[in-house]
Amino acid sequence: MKRFPIKYEWDVVDIRSQVRELAKKHGFGDLDQARIVQSVSELAKNVVEHAEEGIVEVCLIQEEERSGIRIKVQDFGPGIEDLEMILRSSEAPASVEGFGLKQVRESMDDFSIRVLEGKGTLVQVTKWLEEQRQTDGSP
Ligand SMILES: Nc1ncnc2c1ncn2[C@@H]1O[C@H](COP(=O)(O)OP(=O)(O)O)[C@@H](O)[C@H]1O
Ligand SMILES: [Mg+2]
Repeated sequence: MKRFPIKYEWDVVDIRSQVRELAKKHGFGDLDQARIVQSVSELAKNVVEHAEEGIVEVCLIQEEERSGIRIKVQDFGPGIEDLEMILRSSEAPASVEGFGLKQVRESMDDFSIRVLEGKGTLVQVTKWLEEQRQTDGSP
């Protein structure tokens, strides 16, 4: 697992390149790499813009049937007061507000967002490798 503190917009640059590297090594193709990098970028930028500081954790996951990459972004900001509304509005096709989260949700396979009581926000996303790409003969 890799952990990156996030506080300044500058931090996003390093996170982007390291996450791309990890995703590539794990066997994700160019398009999925782009989706993963864009997602971590949006989430990290949300921390800088809306929550001051936080932590990005990236881990490669291996289950019996599938493997993938999981990204957790936790911050210590104010949380999202109108989370329900934002999630609902991010389902609307033409919404501009909440476009970042909407895009992340569409780009990744699993998406969860939780407001931690008095402790900020936790977003967790996962991208699974397509089966045909992960056959290396390795278990
Ligand atoms: N980490 C966060 N902490 C607090 N509020 C957040 C966080 N991430 C998102 N938000 C809130 O959710 C809204 C929607 O986020 P997003 O879809 O990324 O759009 P944008 O960042 O462009 O406003 C933000 O405007 C903000 O109010
Ligand atoms: Mg945003």
